[in-house]
Amino acid sequence: MEETINFIKNSIGDFVPEVGIILGSGLGELADEYCDKAISYNDIPNFIKSTVVGHKGRLVFAEISGKKVVMMQGRNHFYEGHSMQEITYPVKVMKKLGVKTLILTNAAGGVNESFSAGDLMIITDHINFMGTNPLIGKNDETLGERFPDMTEVYKNSLIELAENCADDLSIDIQKGVYLANSGPSYETPAEILMARTLGADAVGMSTVPEAIVANYCGMNVLGISCISNAASSAGGKTLSHEEVIEATTRAKEKFKKLVVKIVGNL
Ligand code: HPA
Repeated sequence: MEETINFIKNSIGDFVPEVGIILGSGLGELADEYCDKAISYNDIPNFIKSTVVGHKGRLVFAEISGKKVVMMQGRNHFYEGHSMQEITYPVKVMKKLGVKTLILTNAAGGVNESFSAGDLMIITDHINFMGTNPLIGKNDETLGERFPDMTEVYKNSLIELAENCADDLSIDIQKGVYLANSGPSYETPAEILMARTLGADAVGMSTVPEAIVANYCGMNVLGISCISNAASSAGGKTLSHEEVIEATTRAKEKFKKLVVKIVGNL
């Protein structure tokens, strides 16, 4: 960790980011528009490479709406074969760099039948269905406690702020529970029915490990899903990664506007 932090600090000088944003599939453009300094994950000691199409793999530093921000343009996923500890390492790095508020974004399948492709959903809570937990292993007491509370992972005040920002921008917004599967296979119809029965509104393959670690480290977390498809519950419609990217690309303008406004109001 010391090696990672020293390397990054050498590159960014006295820039201290207070906001972190992890940009999901098809949503990375924000880091093209706002970029004062970018470092490839490949160059950062102890970081892992991003391997998925639609994910770039850079840490981008910029000022957005007057706030100093660090963005992950592309994230690493559990389904790539990395450990839970590896995929959540950047969250700990952000914490050490000074980040207080972390905005997690993703593309997700809509489980709630009232959702449409292209909707944005503020995450109110999550269900960890990945079968493991990023905090398994020896605990680092300097970061957080062994048995961290998870009653308000997604801060109510941030949910309210995001809703108000969406309102101001006349963006329709959904709210709901995000359930994380490990992936990389998409869900079967029976799994979607199960997710709905368990109280989920959206399903995806990311975000939950990062949210757990960020909450454990004492960061304020906000989560935004871009609903890229109706998850495969009915109608026999198939799903592809291209369709997911296509839908997030369509939603990206309102997504960017919303995030910029939220950051300005933090
Ligand atoms: N399931 C899981 N992950 C996803 C989906 C989905 O339907 N869409 C985008 N990411």
